Amino acid sequence: MFTEKSIIGIIGCGAMGIGIGQLAATESHQVFIFDSSIDALKKAEINLKNSLKKLIDKGKIDSQKESEIINNINFSNNIESLKPCDLVIEAIIENIEIKKKVFADLEKIVSQTCILASNTSSLSITSIASACINPEKVIGIHFFNPATLMPLVEIIPGIATKPIVTEHCKSLLDSWKKTTVVAKDTPGFIVNRIARPFYSEALRIFEEGIADISTIDWAMKEIGGFKMGPFELMDLIGHDVNYTVTETVWTQFYYDPKFKPSISQKRLLEAGFLGRKSGKGFYNYNDNNEQPKPKNDLILGELIFKRILVMLINEAADALYFKIATVEDIDLAMTKGVNYPKGLLKWADDLGIENIVNDLKKLYLLYQEDRYRISPILKQMLEQKIYLFHKTI
Ligand SMILES: NC(=O)c1ccc[n+]([C@@H]2O[C@H](COP(=O)([O-])OP(=O)(O)OC[C@H]3O[C@@H](n4cnc5c(N)ncnc54)[C@H](O)[C@@H]3O)[C@@H](O)[C@H]2O)c1
Repeated sequence: MFTEKSIIGIIGCGAMGIGIGQLAATESHQVFIFDSSIDALKKAEINLKNSLKKLIDKGKIDSQKESEIINNINFSNNIESLKPCDLVIEAIIENIEIKKKVFADLEKIVSQTCILASNTSSLSITSIASACINPEKVIGIHFFNPATLMPLVEIIPGIATKPIVTEHCKSLLDSWKKTTVVAKDTPGFIVNRIARPFYSEALRIFEEGIADISTIDWAMKEIGGFKMGPFELMDLIGHDVNYTVTETVWTQFYYDPKFKPSISQKRLLEAGFLGRKSGKGFYNYNDNNEQPKPKNDLILGELIFKRILVMLINEAADALYFKIATVEDIDLAMTKGVNYPKGLLKWADDLGIENIVNDLKKLYLLYQEDRYRISPILKQMLEQKIYLFHKTI
């Protein structure tokens, strides 16, 4: 069982590692951060101090807490510094071979009881754990960016992970006031799998010429209540990151057509139009550039929103069908991890399973593509006259 006295190790002090380190130090843990790059360590220390200054300016912490957090964190470019840790969370480059090597090295340094976790977004925890002599103490602890602010953490046991390890990690993250959900070790876990149609169906609607990007974004925000439209969000995430996640999920699911990436997005990536960070993506962010105006057509907007929503619900239902997570965790994951206005399975309950199946049937009938196949659970529910996810399953 972890306590406040448990020592936390972090490997990799990039965007995620330093955020997780700050979080643990704020919760009074002693934190050891190791990164192989001295430049990255220097940058992370500056980023941490800037982030704490902002919290002081906003009145969220005082200078005493700031010093406490800074004093709790030790930076090093020597992996041996992680020796006293009770839990190490790895947040290095997303590369399976490099992660495996780091886990094998780490296991030789830390104590027998130390839990080894990976913050990977898309790699198999079971595969990372296979590099260790004791894979039963390896687990996925997947934070969302920025780790200090986003409430959701997905906990992913690999097939060899001992249940007690999952329990201890879950209760530690709960004590850090995070919303924790447990996910099966499958590509994309919960959020990065279920969210795929938000982007891919929007891209498909755009590619077919049914609507332009600003109208699709408008429909999802104004009618759907989403904080950002799919094209704005892809531009913000960056097409290098967003396209890669889609491609990874698709290839890891043995090229299941429902996860197939979009050629339009691939072309943006090839052109170097990565989104906000490069000044241009689907939208142009250069100064004085007027953004395209949406067609405020409610009938078209409703059609766009419903089509994307039923595809999201279909994926959420399929994740439930394949036991990726529980009904409650699937809905929590999408509301707390990607700020959806409502849990998708709750949305299904409100809209009516029959309406969703009918909409999906129309899409399948029109396109005859496997991408639009209906999740078996939706059909089974109708056959068994079960109309609600939340009360009955
Ligand atoms: N950025 C996100 O939005 C996000 C969200 C959730 C999960 N993740 C996952 O978190 C991990 C880190 O992502 P990031 O965005 O923080 O990356 P990043 O590129 O910002 O930082 C990675 C850091 O790891 C260090 N590093 C690389 N190889 C190393 C090694 N062998 N030993 C020690 N240090 C090494 C680098 O010097 C760098 O400082 C990845 O697995 C990523 O998939 C990222």
